[in-house]
Amino acid sequence: MKKLQAIDDNVTPTLLVGVDFGLPNFDVQLEELGLLAQTAGLLPVARVTCKRKSPDAALFIGSGKADEIKQMVIRLGVQEILFDQSLSPAQQRNLERYFDLPVNDRTFLILEIFAQRARSHEGQLQVELARLQYLSTRLVRRWSHLERQSGGIGMRGGPGEAQIELDKRMISDSIKRIKERLIKVKLQRHTQRRQRQRHDTFTISLVGYTNAGKSTLFNALVKAKTYVADQLFATLDTTTRQLYLGDVGCRVSLSDTVGFIRDLPHGLIDAFEATLQEAVDADLLLHLVDFSSPNHPDQIAEVQRVLKDIGASDIPQVMIFNKMDVVPLERRPTVLRDVYDMNGCPTPCVFISAQTGTGLPELCQLLIDQLLAIRNHPKFSDAFPDVRLTEPFTGNIESE
Ligand code: GTP
Repeated sequence: MKKLQAIDDNVTPTLLVGVDFGLPNFDVQLEELGLLAQTAGLLPVARVTCKRKSPDAALFIGSGKADEIKQMVIRLGVQEILFDQSLSPAQQRNLERYFDLPVNDRTFLILEIFAQRARSHEGQLQVELARLQYLSTRLVRRWSHLERQSGGIGMRGGPGEAQIELDKRMISDSIKRIKERLIKVKLQRHTQRRQRQRHDTFTISLVGYTNAGKSTLFNALVKAKTYVADQLFATLDTTTRQLYLGDVGCRVSLSDTVGFIRDLPHGLIDAFEATLQEAVDADLLLHLVDFSSPNHPDQIAEVQRVLKDIGASDIPQVMIFNKMDVVPLERRPTVLRDVYDMNGCPTPCVFISAQTGTGLPELCQLLIDQLLAIRNHPKFSDAFPDVRLTEPFTGNIESE
């Protein structure tokens, strides 16, 4: 057991539980759960780990570990327990009965954060849909105290069962209503996107694992004030700005998208179709990586997996290794521009610090090289006036 922080009166003291099934980066992922918990407004006070070959069907953890946690809950005044792995509805219900406390998992936590953060109407509807779908499978635990009040002879069930049926019907009605509203909102968005595409704009999307620094880079490039925070999922809705690359006389549109994360609940992949759609429609993806994170190879792999899932894996990418200002000297590359080997496929890459501005001129030059490489494509016939790049780019990038 590892104690993390002193308890403050205004926050919910939370115990983190991670079960090590022998997969790599177990520690880093548990660290990430702590950051997710803080992002959701919880206070992780201790962390418990155990090793298992497979989850226990009833409690996910063994009964010995459950006893140990029970003692800690009393000792530390814990009010909520969070598991790093997904719990089945039955395991969650059993654990809540056992500890007499709310027990949640990573999926629930991500849904909560998304619910707190979604700003656009479509984003809010999608998150609500994902939450209701998650809740509908777990409803029964909310009424477990009524379950034992069985009905009389010949009756189908007690008040608990009746209440569950009623809630299920209410949830399925709400799901139906939200889906109908989403159809309308999506139609509007498609119309707006078609209008943008008609203008032959070259579109670039920033993608990357959550907290990689996408909003910081976006702000540095377009001098916008997108919300930047040392929290996961600070950005949930796509922000798009026009950039004018003066030296090539080309207008491009740059979008900041939602941060990716491992085990993103599937309902939320749909939920963020609006945001991720920007990535699918982009002509170029800027894949931002937090190079200071020891876990960055896994984060790159996770982003590639999601890009494949949403049908964006064939779009050309530029890899941007960020946070060079805090990368130890011995890991820093000697040149700022290089080529990254992505599973045998050479991908242009650049090393930057979005915060200090190091490497931004090299990044802009790389963007211009990419633009020049595709300028003859018929889609962009109107986007490029006949201007040639004669001098190396010096950072003349303007936003509109
Ligand atoms: P999500 O919204 O979660 O997807 O995050 P994001 O990828 O948009 O990251 P954001 O720009 O919000 O930055 C996350 C944290 O990293 C913030 O605390 C930034 O100040 C910090 N950060 C971003 N770029 C740099 C950098 O170059 N160096 C350092 N040291 N920190 C950086």
